Amino acid sequence: MDKLLISGGVRLEGEIKISGSKNSGLPILAATLLATSPVHLYNLPHLNDITTMIALLRCMGVGVTIDEKMCVEIDPAHIEVYEAPYELVKTMRASILVLGPLLARFGKADVSFPGGCAIGSRPVDIHLRGLEAMGATIEVDGGYIRARAPQGLKGAQFLMDKVTVGGTENLLMAAVLAQGKSVLENAAKEPEIIDLANFLVSMGAKISGIGTDRLEVDGVKALTGCAHTVMPDRIETGTYLCAAAATRGSIKVKSTRADILESVLIKLKDAGADLHFGEDWISLDMHGRRPRAVSLRTAPHPAFPTDMQSQFMAMNSVAEGMSKVTETIFENRLIQVHELNRMGAKIALEGNTAIISGVERLKAAPVMASDLRASASLVIAGLVAEGETLIDRIYHIDRGYECIEEKMQILGANVRRVAG
Ligand code: EPZ
Repeated sequence: MDKLLISGGVRLEGEIKISGSKNSGLPILAATLLATSPVHLYNLPHLNDITTMIALLRCMGVGVTIDEKMCVEIDPAHIEVYEAPYELVKTMRASILVLGPLLARFGKADVSFPGGCAIGSRPVDIHLRGLEAMGATIEVDGGYIRARAPQGLKGAQFLMDKVTVGGTENLLMAAVLAQGKSVLENAAKEPEIIDLANFLVSMGAKISGIGTDRLEVDGVKALTGCAHTVMPDRIETGTYLCAAAATRGSIKVKSTRADILESVLIKLKDAGADLHFGEDWISLDMHGRRPRAVSLRTAPHPAFPTDMQSQFMAMNSVAEGMSKVTETIFENRLIQVHELNRMGAKIALEGNTAIISGVERLKAAPVMASDLRASASLVIAGLVAEGETLIDRIYHIDRGYECIEEKMQILGANVRRVAG
């Protein structure tokens, strides 16, 4: 099992290119199942989760070709399997996103029930209740969700009890081919949902209220292929900016946008970062200063994203002053506290809040990644620790960060991958 070896104490400096968004690419790949003709996708990141989703589509009979410019052509014209098998779903929960499109276009879908993961139980009850509201029958049998709608889905008005990104995506993809009008109330507003909705509209879907918590959809008979460029990854963007702030460095991230992570930029400014941005880049300069501690509370967009919480916890660990980090989305997403404390951080836990007292430097230690974003916090901790930090189980990182060691090396970090 590969590990990352990081020698800390280097200020990040330089420029890197941000990859396409994992959390936009995954639902958009699932949405290609809705089309009757080929789709061309640009700027998909080269990540294990994206590869897994492509493998899942291929299992169903979808043609997938990748050209020399990394454009992915998806041909959904000859689908004959309507199942997402356990072997694939167990490695990537986002496979659940094929449920809505398969049901909408073919009237049936068998999807292995996605289990929980390190950060929480990750239920899908809202996904299922919404599909039932559209007329589907849903049974859970042998670990599989067996969904049927032989007469097709019918438009419905549905209120989501909790703001759910995946639930909004699945129900939006189901509604675009349902008979009649659907209204999704209390919809998630993350930028990735806007990207998905714009992709669906490019295929001929009729959606209004994009970017709001009320999505109105007029179902259409069929959707055709289109070309779409996946938006930049706002969490990758925020992760590198946070790492630069923690190391008191100065970097520029390109092929990204400032408007997709405003809450993160506000918190970085509060931490003392000197920020500038253009149409497709953001620069951050700490002028060699130690970051100031910033308190935060995660919540659905446009509030502070839960996917940036652990990275800021690592930065707060070496910041000046006390801070409080409260996680309100997932029940177990403060697990990185224990590994950070092993590196000399001073973090106390009170329920879903971590209280952090910043120290000047952390101390290197062998640590273990537990999930994607907790791994990113350990990388940041390694960058600011004295000595060599060895991070185990970095397959978690490879799910969400394209070429992380190469990008960090470009920024001057002393990091390398070692075979486990
Ligand atoms: C998406 O997960 C992202 N994943 C997550 O990013 C992200 O942390 C999360 O949204 C929140 O922003 C992808 O987009 C592939 P949710 P998702 O449904 O859709 C509860 C990363 O690191 N809930 O918005 O699974 C749920 O338990 C990953 O890139 C229900 O109760 O998240 C949670 O408490 C991690 N019932 C809350 O809603 C449901 O039916 C938000 O979950 C669905 C969700």
